[in-house]
Parts: sequence; structure tokens; C-alpha cells
Amino acid sequence: PYPFYERLRDESPVHYLKEMKLWLVTGYEEASTILMNPNFGKKMPEGYPSYVQQPPEKYKKLNELPDNMLDLDPPDHTRIRNLVAKPFTPKAIASLRPDIEKLVNSLLDKAEEKGEMDIVADLASPIPAIVIATMLGVPLDDVDNFREWTTDLVRSFDATQGPEAREKGYEAKLNLLNYFETLVEQRRHNPADDLISELIAIEEKGDKLAKDELLSMCILLLFAGYETTVNLIAVGARNLILNNDQLQLLLSDPSLIKTAVEELMRYETPVQRIGYYTQVDTKIGEKELKKGEPVLVAVGGANRDKKIFENADKLDITRSPNPHLGFGKGKHFCLGAFLARLEAEIAYTTLFTRFPNIRLLDQEGDWAPNTAHRRLLTLPVSLK
Ligand code: HEM
Repeated sequence: PYPFYERLRDESPVHYLKEMKLWLVTGYEEASTILMNPNFGKKMPEGYPSYVQQPPEKYKKLNELPDNMLDLDPPDHTRIRNLVAKPFTPKAIASLRPDIEKLVNSLLDKAEEKGEMDIVADLASPIPAIVIATMLGVPLDDVDNFREWTTDLVRSFDATQGPEAREKGYEAKLNLLNYFETLVEQRRHNPADDLISELIAIEEKGDKLAKDELLSMCILLLFAGYETTVNLIAVGARNLILNNDQLQLLLSDPSLIKTAVEELMRYETPVQRIGYYTQVDTKIGEKELKKGEPVLVAVGGANRDKKIFENADKLDITRSPNPHLGFGKGKHFCLGAFLARLEAEIAYTTLFTRFPNIRLLDQEGDWAPNTAHRRLLTLPVSLK
């Protein structure tokens, strides 16, 4: 997608796509301005027709589900986000390090015996799935089920995917909803030391969280915590292997891991686009965005803007500062950013320290058709 973004950025960084009736923003300054400006929000302004298609009759239960925080504006957004912020602070996340290290090592032990692995299936996918399931309190036996559901759900958000993907998305969301309804009822009677039980306690106190909002929150945390991080770990690992000078640099100075993770986020941004709606007529640069018009902020394009990032198309793991927009910006800034960073940091450090001679077995890259997320379906490597 990068040559396309580059051309747009040079010619028209805030561009109206007539056939799709939306704005595509690829310039960094413009993207950043929009993410910070309250004139852009998640809800369509009142009185304007919604672009979101309603699910057909057989999925009507989904219509009753309230929006999750990602789709809300203040004050509801602020109220709900504050309820769940604490377990995602840097300090709380740092306490997970020993468990994540143990998990990554046990996954790599299994791979070592074979001498080969598929980084997607054997490493990048189990890490975030197991970590977020454990935090929430989803039994690990159910992890395989939910991975398929969250993948179908996230694919259905991509408007380029067509009606079949949309239908699968409804089906998946309904499965997730039914699943969490049962789990929440179980935890209500038998609370455990997990996030779902904490949220139930808040809900039962009365005025801060409605029962259905709790279910929406569980679904969001599960898919947001899993779908994005798989892509960072796998796509980032591939980019490090392809850029061997950068991998050697990291191996010779492991303290570069933090700037390396930020650079891998920038270079091949896992979530390529974020959607907002114009709430009041607003001028961005020379363009006038009208109330009710949808805006796709192409952070994947903005993160390659040469005005901000020197040698933007080059992977440079020492890059600092690195103000990339890969986790968004402003009030919806990714709640799980510290968790994703820690998972990626441990995955790369452990993988490359244990297997410094790692080689790709497929140079092409087995990419998913999804364009909103940069996703590899498989990433076979030799470890010897
Ligand atoms: C929000 C990306 C990992 C939970 C966001 C946003 C982006 C993003 C771009 C802002 C969306 C917007 O403005 O509309 C990523 C990437 C990740 C990642 C690239 C991994 C590399 C995680 C993890 C969690 C998580 C591990 C764990 C629960 C959330 C939540 C929001 C969010 C709950 C909504 C925040 C709000 O609306 O205030 N993420 N994310 N994300 N992310 Fe992440």
C-alpha cells in the first residue's frame, strides 16, 4: 500500500474518495490534527444517516448490544474507559513480564525440537491470545474458539471485504456475545481473580456500568487485545529478518529493543486505518470536511510521511524520537499499548537470542486479503 499512500500524500494528503463518499487522510500533520480535534468523533452526528449497516433479523440480538468504548464519544467514552484503565497502566503491565517470558520460552521449546516453526501459529498468535484470555478470565481451553471468532469479526470491519465477510462477522459477534453471557453469569456466582469479576463488581454497584456494556467491553478487550498484537509480532519479526543489518544491530545491543518495537510499529503499522465522523464543518489544510462525512485516518500512510520521518521507507531500529500514530492519538489512544509493547519486546528478544540464525522459508509473504490490518496468515522459518 505504501506507493499508493505516498502518491496521495504528495498530491492530496486529505483526499475525498467520491465513489466511497469518505475522506482518506495520509498526511501525518493532518492525521494527527484530526485525531486530536473534538470536531471528529465516533458517532454520526444526530440527524445524519448511519453508514453502519444493521445486522439482518437473525442477528437482531446484536442490535441491542450497546457500543463499546472504541465507538463512543465523551462523556460515555470517558466513563467506560476510566473503569478499565488500571490493569493497563505501565506498572500493572510490567508485573506480567515473568509470566509472558515463561510462556514465550515454552512456545519456543516446542518449536526448537522441530528445527522449524510457523511464527504466526506457533508464537505470534498464542502469545496475545493466552495473555488477554488470562487477564480477562477466559478459560484457556476456549482460546481456539475465540481466535476464529475475533478474526472473522475484525475482518468484517474492513469495508473492502464484501457481504460474505460481513455475514461471518455478525455470526462471530453473536458467538462471542453468547459466550460472554454464559461466562459472566458463571463468574457472578463464582468470582475469580480476573478482570471479568472486577467488572462484574463495578456493574453490581449500580451506576457506572450497565450489564450489556460489560458484555461489549469483554468482546472489545478480547478482539482488540488479540487481533492487533498477532500482526505486530509476526510482521515485525519478518521485517527484522528481512533487514538483517537491523537484526544484527539488535543482537549486538539488546537495549535497542524498545526503540525497535516502536520502529516496527511505524514501519508496517498493524492497524492501517482508523475511522471517525466529522461532527461539525471543519477545515483541514485546504479541504473543508462537512458535518456527517466519514474520515479514514490512514495511520499506516501517515507513519511513512517524509516530512516527519527521515528516510521514512527505511527500517531504523535506533529511530528516536518516533512519534508514530500506530496506537492512535488523543482520547482513544490504545488502552493496550503497554501490553502490546511488552509482548512484542519479549517475543523478539527471546526468539532472536535463542535462534540468531533464523531464516525465512517463504520470501513472498503469505498476506491476508484484509487491507485495514497488515496480517500474515503464515510465516514459516528455519531456526537452524
Ligand atoms: C484502541 C492499535 C493492542 C485494546 C486502539 C487504537 C489503535 C490501536 C490504532 C485507536 C483506535 C481509534 O482511534 O479509533 C493497536 C495495535 C495493537 C494494539 C496496533 C498491537 C500492536 C491492544 C491490546 C489491547 C488493546 C493488547 C488490550 C486490551 C484497545 C482498546 C482500544 C484500543 C480497548 C480503545 C480505546 C478507546 O476507545 O479509548 N488500539 N492496539 N489494544 N486498543 Fe489497541
